[in-house]
Amino acid sequence: MTFFAVENLSMTFGGLKALDNVSFEIVKGEIFAIIGPNGAGKTTLFNCINGIYPPSGGSVIFKDKPIRGIKPDKVAKAGIARTFQNIELFSNMNTMENIMLGRHLFMKTGLFRGGLMWGRNSFAGKEEADNRKKVEEIIELLELQTFRNKFVGALPYGIQKKIELGRALAAEPELLLLDEPCAGMNAEEKQDVVFWIKDIQDELGITILLIEHDMNMVMDISDRILTLNFGKPIAMGYPEEVSSHPEVLKAYLGVEDGEDAQIH
Ligand SMILES: Nc1ncnc2c1ncn2[C@@H]1O[C@H](COP(=O)(O)OP(=O)(O)O)[C@@H](O)[C@H]1O
Ligand SMILES: [Mg+2]
Repeated sequence: MTFFAVENLSMTFGGLKALDNVSFEIVKGEIFAIIGPNGAGKTTLFNCINGIYPPSGGSVIFKDKPIRGIKPDKVAKAGIARTFQNIELFSNMNTMENIMLGRHLFMKTGLFRGGLMWGRNSFAGKEEADNRKKVEEIIELLELQTFRNKFVGALPYGIQKKIELGRALAAEPELLLLDEPCAGMNAEEKQDVVFWIKDIQDELGITILLIEHDMNMVMDISDRILTLNFGKPIAMGYPEEVSSHPEVLKAYLGVEDGEDAQIH
């Protein structure tokens, strides 16, 4: 079975080829990372996978089924959740409510009636209780208990990133797309994120497709890595293979002769 694959995927904006014949396959259970300089097409790739953009060509396969061109809510329902490069939370809602938003896929009664506002004995009440239980599990897993009832707008950046991760997990995905989960974090917060991502892989068995700019983190956490540059794949393989690949060094460090440079 093909768990997830992208085949000859292309995306053009006007005359710009943001993705140019990108192909790769992800094995269930692995952490697969996409790296590349700013503007390489990484976020565009996510937007094509989860249906925000319609790709100009190629295919996206999830569990043997083609999903290219399917709308974002259907992609989520199929089992692919994501986080965004820039935090997209509702700042005037609390942690619990924001994570609950990730459950809306499972709610038959409508988000606000069923999920957030009322009903104890009705069907909506039962559904709400089930959803809350799942959300509580996530809050516990990510150690967000102290922030449960706090408005997210006032919380530290690293915590907000974690809440966004929680919201993606609430959708119970099989494949989780993380777009620069460490962006803007200090070393300690980054270490924390590495820990959570490994936990999510190990304990929840979720496969992870990770975009990351921090080389140390990528080398540490990834099973395999794909490097993009100007929308084109330039190297794919195990971390040690990719980090010493001359094209990668050139793209990342502007090094012409890869001999002397190393990505640590
Ligand atoms: N909606 C859009 N319209 C026009 N150009 C876009 C759009 N989204 C991305 N691009 C362009 O596509 C290229 C890849 O962008 P992006 O995928 O955000 O790169 P990365 O995430 O690797 O930094 C960039 O040149 C960017 O300006
Ligand atoms: Mg990006």
